[in-house]
Amino acid sequence: MVNGKIIFITGAGSGIGRDTAMALAKRGHRVIATTHSDQQAEKLNKLAYRESLSLKSFKLDVTVAQDREKILRYQVDVLINNAATGESGSLAEIDVARVRKNFETNLFSGIALTQLALRGMMYRNRGRILFISSLAGRVIFMPFLASYAMTKYAVSAGAESLRQEIKMIHKNIHIIVIEPGAYHTGFNQKMMATKFEWMDKSSYFFQGLERIKMDEDRHFRMTEQKSTKSIVRKIIKACEADKPRFRYSAPWWQSLGIRLLRIAGK
Ligand SMILES: NC(=O)c1ccc[n+]([C@@H]2O[C@H](COP(=O)([O-])OP(=O)(O)OC[C@H]3O[C@@H](n4cnc5c(N)ncnc54)[C@H](OP(=O)(O)O)[C@@H]3O)[C@@H](O)[C@H]2O)c1
Repeated sequence: MVNGKIIFITGAGSGIGRDTAMALAKRGHRVIATTHSDQQAEKLNKLAYRESLSLKSFKLDVTVAQDREKILRYQVDVLINNAATGESGSLAEIDVARVRKNFETNLFSGIALTQLALRGMMYRNRGRILFISSLAGRVIFMPFLASYAMTKYAVSAGAESLRQEIKMIHKNIHIIVIEPGAYHTGFNQKMMATKFEWMDKSSYFFQGLERIKMDEDRHFRMTEQKSTKSIVRKIIKACEADKPRFRYSAPWWQSLGIRLLRIAGK
């Protein structure tokens, strides 16, 4: 058991966010697990009640300013910016409105929420902000992921810049990036499918579409971790360590692969 912190997380209705929220509550933290929909929040509240956990859930759409302001009701020790969507498809022909929407959810909304959380943290001179980025925000390892990968590169770059700024005035406010590899939460399948909503006969890549789909299915079948445990463990470390690192990633073999690709000049 640890000294309980107030931990505020977005996109906790499913996947890594939900598993992280539950795991942190089980470790004795007070978790505010916000979700995309009311139904997800209701489910999470029931689960927490059944397991007697200090976890409260409600809907917070990160793209809605009024929803984001709900964070001001709490003296948040840790904010985890986890909510995200994935948009895939050729950058040569994707409707830019799709890319813009992807950035709105994955980047701009997280920055706006972070600014609100920082108000209290600056005043109290302590806190930490976690950005759930991705190993896809370090290296481009496959085609047709441009929109999503660009949002995650931007999240990681923003976090690094913010860390350098904050370090100049506060030693006890930590900015941290979490980089998951591939996990079987359904996120990747949803993201891969988005491109087939519009990449059709008129696409430059029409002849190769079947092949692209097969390669992507195979890639994720081979790389996706069935359990989220390894990344949840890293997120817990980032929340609890006295002196947290800037970057945490998992699973180890995918982070190593990305490091090697970068050394090789990727
Ligand atoms: N799974 C992977 O392989 C992987 C790899 C690298 C990074 N990540 C990152 O890990 C994080 C969690 O992803 P996951 O794999 O756990 O997938 P997930 O289960 O789909 O989690 C994403 C969550 O964000 C929510 N969300 C989407 N738009 C939102 C909005 N406007 N406001 C509030 N919540 C919103 C989703 O709700 P709905 O389902 O209702 O839309 C969902 O609950 C994301 O940042 C993702 O980019 C995942």
